[in-house]
Amino acid sequence: MPRVDVRGRRLRKQSKDSAAFTSSLGADRRIAGRVIEVNSAHMAALLEAGAVEDEVGAKCLAYLRHASAQVGASDEGEDFHQLLEQRAVDELGIETAGYLNLGKSRNDQVATAVRMELRALVLELSSALVDLQESELRVARKHAGDLLPGYTHLQHAQPVTIPHHFFAHFDSLQRDVERLGQLYSRVNLCPMGSAALAGTPVRLDRERVAALLGFDGIVKNSMDAVSSRDFVVEALSCALMAMLDMSRLAEELVLWSSKEFGFIELSDEFSASSSIMPQKKNAVVAELARAKAGSVLGSLVAVASILKALPYSYNLDLQETTPHLWRAMDDAISSARVLAGALSSAKFDSSAVSRAMSGDYSTATALADHLVSRYGISFRRAHAVVGGLVTESVKTGLPLAEVAATRLGQASGKDGLRMNIDLKTAFQVLDQSNFLSGISTEGGANPSGVRPGVAARQTAVRDARASVSKKASALKKASTEFNRILREKKGR
Ligand code: ARG
Repeated sequence: MPRVDVRGRRLRKQSKDSAAFTSSLGADRRIAGRVIEVNSAHMAALLEAGAVEDEVGAKCLAYLRHASAQVGASDEGEDFHQLLEQRAVDELGIETAGYLNLGKSRNDQVATAVRMELRALVLELSSALVDLQESELRVARKHAGDLLPGYTHLQHAQPVTIPHHFFAHFDSLQRDVERLGQLYSRVNLCPMGSAALAGTPVRLDRERVAALLGFDGIVKNSMDAVSSRDFVVEALSCALMAMLDMSRLAEELVLWSSKEFGFIELSDEFSASSSIMPQKKNAVVAELARAKAGSVLGSLVAVASILKALPYSYNLDLQETTPHLWRAMDDAISSARVLAGALSSAKFDSSAVSRAMSGDYSTATALADHLVSRYGISFRRAHAVVGGLVTESVKTGLPLAEVAATRLGQASGKDGLRMNIDLKTAFQVLDQSNFLSGISTEGGANPSGVRPGVAARQTAVRDARASVSKKASALKKASTEFNRILREKKGR
């Protein structure tokens, strides 16, 4: 018997160039296992609908159970969907394997497989981000009482604490984790049963197929199901947001490990040397995490551009979106992992931090606030007065407290106000720890917020982990049940 080509008889052979250009076979490696699962669930539903004979269905399921998800260098074809069917036809013959594609198309199948792979990656990324959050909390706990310059415009602005700084990073990652949780509910919906675009006369129970594959429900409209990739754009923007947040941490790790800052030393495990300069220790992990934010942005822009103005419903343009998705998700996951490691193993040099903070005028606002409450002048007026004192201190090289104690009367005299501060009070007002403990607003840098801040965030970590593992165990449970049903069907 001549070999039956699943491509059919409508067309002659595709040219070599055209075939290579349009094939997604290489990229399909990523979803090959999922495609086999989707075929199995579909066949199980065909059996239940009485659309295929028991014997045919059992043979197909037995075949799928052992079907290889490998794509070899010599394999040919438009994609793995076609290759899998071709292999089945070659092995079982067309009268049996020819039923695999009854009531389904590669269009609903690929959308389903992509969603299955993506939902796993969403959980993986969530866990990796929570790991990174935990390493931020470890730093916060270890340096509970340590100060850090708070920057605006990369200039010393006001003192904060190390925990306060890392709480900021933690909280932004928390939103990234929450976004991924919301994304999951839109990804975990099943397109199967939509066939090419219009649905199928085969009486498939769509909810049943969805449940077998661990989905929470179906994508209702059959055209929407096969041709929408908004979930890809959404996943990419979630990945991008996480990368943007991580890139800011990465940038600080690079800066802080420079000689000029010297605030941290990264461990050797997360650093690289130079091939020529023997002294070098480069923060390469942080550099790449910073760079990958750019790559993920590129993927988002690419996919959005591919989708723009695409006529309904399926077009092969959609095939071009998936490699971007995998690359971006992989980048985000690996970035979170290495940053968690780099941060956990980094050592802070508290004396370098103190040196950097000494005489940095970062509590000048406190002196202005003091004048407002002590003398009832407006803040803007106090701001101007203290600004003058700082200029004087910079010029003379004398500490701001001394300048305040000797020059405040003079400075204020011009405005017809008699203000004075003694040296001791000036030092107290300008003291960095006093500045911090004087902060009274919720969410501010007062060190009294460190302990409850750590505790609340530990609860958030626990909740996030519980939410991820709830989803993961629902998938696991569905897959165990699916395998049981498959075994049962083949036994019949
Ligand atoms: N290789 C395609 C993809 O990845 C699968 C669907 C192809 N459908 C088609 N009608 N050519 O999107």
